[in-house]
Amino acid sequence: MFATKKMKAFTVLLLSGTLLAGCGGGAQKTGENSTYTKEKPLVIKFSHVTTADSPKGKAADKFKELMEKKSDGKVKVETYPSSQLYGDKDELENLQLGNVQIIAPSVTKLVGLNPQFQIVDMPFLFKNRESVLKFWDGELGNKLMNSLDSKNIKGMAMWENGFKHFTSNKPLTKPEDFNGQKFRTQAGKVLEAQFKALGAGAATIPFGETYTALQQKTVDGQENTFNNMDTQKYAEVQKYMLVSEHGRLDYVVLTNKKWYDSLPQDIKKSFDEAMKEATVYERQLAVELDKQSFENLKNSKKMEIVELQPEMREKFAKKMESVYTEFEKVIGKELIDGVKKL
Ligand code: LMR
Repeated sequence: MFATKKMKAFTVLLLSGTLLAGCGGGAQKTGENSTYTKEKPLVIKFSHVTTADSPKGKAADKFKELMEKKSDGKVKVETYPSSQLYGDKDELENLQLGNVQIIAPSVTKLVGLNPQFQIVDMPFLFKNRESVLKFWDGELGNKLMNSLDSKNIKGMAMWENGFKHFTSNKPLTKPEDFNGQKFRTQAGKVLEAQFKALGAGAATIPFGETYTALQQKTVDGQENTFNNMDTQKYAEVQKYMLVSEHGRLDYVVLTNKKWYDSLPQDIKKSFDEAMKEATVYERQLAVELDKQSFENLKNSKKMEIVELQPEMREKFAKKMESVYTEFEKVIGKELIDGVKKL
């Protein structure tokens, strides 16, 4: 039974590999310029899970605008926000199969491909935005991205969202408050361990199903950035927020490697340029929208918001030390120490 399933999956992958080699470049050889036209353009699908007005959504649309312009209409980019095309559960697989050409999952959702991506979840590891940028634009982040090459995935860029904070329907001001509560997580064992260290339970729930899970009280709370909480309207279903900045939520923009490698030279050039410009746009926008969303959440007066003070932060960090003991080997000491130095 297992062998049959495996063989089936292998056949699908083989087939998709053959198809992929054929698509994108058409009959052309890599290195040549494209024969795509305005009438018969190359179609690129960009799927993601946040709203169209989130930084990721706006930057995906910016990439579309740039790519279509730079290619003189020879490329058409279709953007699919809000898990319309693929959600957390199936976007990676469909990228590998070549059914979608670009996705931009939150870093931690790559845990199944390389558990080191959970570096972003290590409690209170990244000091500030600057250290996050230095990490992703430097050697450590590059190495991590390149680890996806062997999985037929090419990391194109890091797009920002921001620091994560906790919310719940029960007050959250000190570590003891977490005891017995259950929180929604994005993915992975590190986040599970983080909540366990606080005496809380955790459940992985796709982003597209989180609002309902909070509304139906499947979980008591969640952790996310101001912008995701704002654009997903979590204040409607959450009463308390602790502004904690305990972890990062950023994105890796990914494309199918075989597909990308097979692109004609002129299209690849436009693609790289458009991605670079969209990345500059996205990073600046993420900072602005993060601030704006925090204001929106405060102004709505729907949640009681507490900002974590240094003394209490120390208490949380101490409680969460066990996460480092448990995951130092998985993430790698070199990587953790590298981030601490940034
Ligand atoms: C989440 O699942 O909470 C986030 O990763 C969603 C996103 O893409 O920002």
